[in-house]
Amino acid sequence: MSNKMWGGRFSTAPDAIMEEINASIGFDQRLYAQDIAGSKAHAAMLAAQGIVAAKDAQKITKGLDTILSEIEAGKFSFRRELEDIHMNVESRLAELIGAPAGRLHTARSRNDQVATDFRLYVRDTVDALDAQLADLQRALAEKALAHAATVMPGFTHLQTAQPVTFGHHLMAYVEMMARDRSRFADARARLNECPLGSAALAGTSFPIDREATAAALGFDRPTANSLDAVSDRDFVMETLSAASICAIHLSRFAEEVVIWTSPSFALVKLSDAFTTGSSIMPQKRNPDAAELVRAKAGRIIGALTGILVVMKGLPLAYAKDMQEDKEGAFDAFSALSLVIAATAGMVRDLSPDEKRMATAAGQGYSTATDLADWLVRALNIPFREAHHITGRIVALASDRGIALHKVPLEDMQAVDKRITGDVFSVLSVVRSVRSRTSYGGTAPQRVRAQARRWLKRLGAAPDAT
Ligand code: ARG
Repeated sequence: MSNKMWGGRFSTAPDAIMEEINASIGFDQRLYAQDIAGSKAHAAMLAAQGIVAAKDAQKITKGLDTILSEIEAGKFSFRRELEDIHMNVESRLAELIGAPAGRLHTARSRNDQVATDFRLYVRDTVDALDAQLADLQRALAEKALAHAATVMPGFTHLQTAQPVTFGHHLMAYVEMMARDRSRFADARARLNECPLGSAALAGTSFPIDREATAAALGFDRPTANSLDAVSDRDFVMETLSAASICAIHLSRFAEEVVIWTSPSFALVKLSDAFTTGSSIMPQKRNPDAAELVRAKAGRIIGALTGILVVMKGLPLAYAKDMQEDKEGAFDAFSALSLVIAATAGMVRDLSPDEKRMATAAGQGYSTATDLADWLVRALNIPFREAHHITGRIVALASDRGIALHKVPLEDMQAVDKRITGDVFSVLSVVRSVRSRTSYGGTAPQRVRAQARRWLKRLGAAPDAT
């Protein structure tokens, strides 16, 4: 039997392999809610324009509602021979209401239909991801506020560089998440145009009202070019780009959690809730959640690469290649959602070992810059010369295997006789971070102000810690 939806000029059924490669119902059934919403908007418009009789449109709408509840109740049987979600819904509609079902596809094609459905789906996904990212920002800012004065080593090249506060480090990710959210918001604003009514590729001869369907579906306006509307998937590429960048941010954080929780660093602890044991080494506590957050970035970037490559050589307008826009995107969006949730969970769970952090922060002569700055400030020595003097004092301390603040004053004075005992006031890690009061700096007062500003913006009550 040929396909009953489009099989008019076909005399035999497609080969089984043809059906298998052609069908998308296995994955595009996820678009059912958007597909039904789009069809309802289309039917209402057709009736309002007098293209379809009002009573037929009513039957169509009622039938579509029935189908929606059937799908939601798990009572709908999706059929592969009907290819995709659009024809599965329409075919069921014909079973439910008979002949009027055949009027729904007037002035429409699956090409504008799928483009509309998928834009709606991506828009919903972006909204859900945005809410999750706001929650993650809240978790980070709350932890940052609690640890605004907790000193930890700041690294460059993963070498101890200067002391920073743990709160400051966490707030760096709040900023990254803010840009991720704004990238998603930009993508959302650009995708929010309605392709419905572009029909197969050229528009339609029916007197449709595209403004009405666009408005009914919450779009800002109808798309302005029918060829473009049915054949671009830049909205998928763009949201997957935003998703990839976000996943990379989260992967970097995950990598830091892996490093911090390693017993060789032991700066941070994760509880049993976010670690796993080893089946052979009883002492192990593995940061699997962090590792998987790190790994899923690969998958999300893979989905972006996939759609970029699928699209790159396609002539206008629609080609079936575009059906391959969905699975990777579905997979990437659910991976990102999971990754954000897991990261928020880890942030709330993790506790820094404040003593070890402070000790580690002082290692590697991390306050050498503070010494050089003191020479500039207190003794009016040019920075380049101060850098040189400091280098000699560090070398001296390093030869003896002692910390900077343990170098006796006389020995410092042997390097430069202008140095006074006041110098010791800047050599501790706590003094160091307190002095970094420049806007955007690591001083606890700055970190507190930033964390409070964010919590207020995110609608969370900043506590007094
Ligand atoms: N399942 C198809 C897709 O996802 C729907 C559009 C089919 N259009 C067509 N001309 N065969 O792209």
